[in-house]
Amino acid sequence: MGDSVASVTSSANVAGPARTIEVDFALVGHQESWRTAADVIARLRGPEHAPLPDDEIPDILPWIPPRPVCHVDVGSPIGAKARGLYIDSFIPPDRLEAVYTHDNLARVRAAAACAIKAGAKIVSLGGFSSILIEGNLDLLKMDLLKTEQLPEKHATVFTTGNTLTVAFIVQAIRKMCALQGRNIRKSTLLIVGATGDVGSGCARCLAPVVKRVLLSARNLERLRKLAAELEASGVQVEIAKDLQRFSAEADLVICAASLPSPSLLLGRVAPHALICDAGYPKNLSPSAEMPGATVFFGGLGQITGGLQFAPDFRGVLNRHPFPDVVHGCLLEGMALALERRFEPFSRGRGSITPDRVEEIETVAARHGIHLAPLYNADGPVEDAPHCRTECSRA
Ligand SMILES: NC(=O)c1ccc[n+]([C@@H]2O[C@H](COP(=O)([O-])OP(=O)(O)OC[C@H]3O[C@@H](n4cnc5c(N)ncnc54)[C@H](OP(=O)(O)O)[C@@H]3O)[C@@H](O)[C@H]2O)c1
Repeated sequence: MGDSVASVTSSANVAGPARTIEVDFALVGHQESWRTAADVIARLRGPEHAPLPDDEIPDILPWIPPRPVCHVDVGSPIGAKARGLYIDSFIPPDRLEAVYTHDNLARVRAAAACAIKAGAKIVSLGGFSSILIEGNLDLLKMDLLKTEQLPEKHATVFTTGNTLTVAFIVQAIRKMCALQGRNIRKSTLLIVGATGDVGSGCARCLAPVVKRVLLSARNLERLRKLAAELEASGVQVEIAKDLQRFSAEADLVICAASLPSPSLLLGRVAPHALICDAGYPKNLSPSAEMPGATVFFGGLGQITGGLQFAPDFRGVLNRHPFPDVVHGCLLEGMALALERRFEPFSRGRGSITPDRVEEIETVAARHGIHLAPLYNADGPVEDAPHCRTECSRA
């Protein structure tokens, strides 16, 4: 195992231990499945090494420390350019449960230290990374400074990237409603994981434009607080821990719960519901049977001004049916870097507002970063027959 790990931990060709190339942004992420993790490891080991057998990956991955994986160059149609670094925290895909929090936190801290060492001006924390540190980004920085050998003068800021994620989820819901000729104002919207950073941001953006909102999470106190906030602006709200307890069926659903694996069974939703799964890992269980519903993945954007990896990790890090698609949380850091706005745009939990969503949407759009074409595990959804029919009618 030693040789296998050693061949992955060397960072000679990426950023190196010392700062060699100016880095505007860093993206901290981890792999969603063993397959993607195996592909990242194979690419890091290089063509001179045979790929490791799939069944050895779960034994090896936990021994790989967080490290820079590749450079990321991004351009915008108005000529702006930014250079970044993708740092993988190598959190094993089967270790997202609370019991692994301590280890995972150490991995995110080490990944953040890599970003600071590389001189990144802004760091986007993808997937579980921002959830783990609960948005306590300033403390994370202070903590790192105390314990790591970091450059004394550094000006690295962190963003969770959740505001742009919310923007893309909201845009996707609106787009699917338009494609299927649905009146969003007559819709009942269910948000699972409603009190989270992403869920509550989506609630604030969409509650004023739907007929009724159903909010679900496990902690009733937080649900009551969010419901009171929305009700104060005249929105009809219902809350429940148990999805079966709502008095109405939802025809729009956003899944934004921080589940360690795809295990969510929605049960009672309207037969032709539109369901946006924005979880990373995905929320919906593969065994969830909703034959009439349209499921699509949410929170994803597409870069139109150019995206390059060095070494070439195309199709390994961003494996989507469309080119240059990236998670909204990571895109937020890239958009801010292209704008030369090195500020902690999204921080803390539960404070994303429609105004901030509009602001980051505008920044992203200026740099050619837009909602990605919608798809699910079976492929693109915008070309599905019900979408085409409704579009041609419109
Ligand atoms: N697509 C993207 O680009 C993108 C970007 C950022 C984040 N994400 C993903 O979006 C999801 C939410 O992220 P976040 O930052 O909003 O997380 P968060 O702030 O930790 O919120 C998580 C929410 O899920 C609820 N929850 C947790 N476990 C649950 C369970 N077993 N059943 C029902 N509800 C549960 C939490 O409330 P209770 O604790 O009260 O249950 C809370 O409402 C995560 O999967 C994250 O990885 C995706």
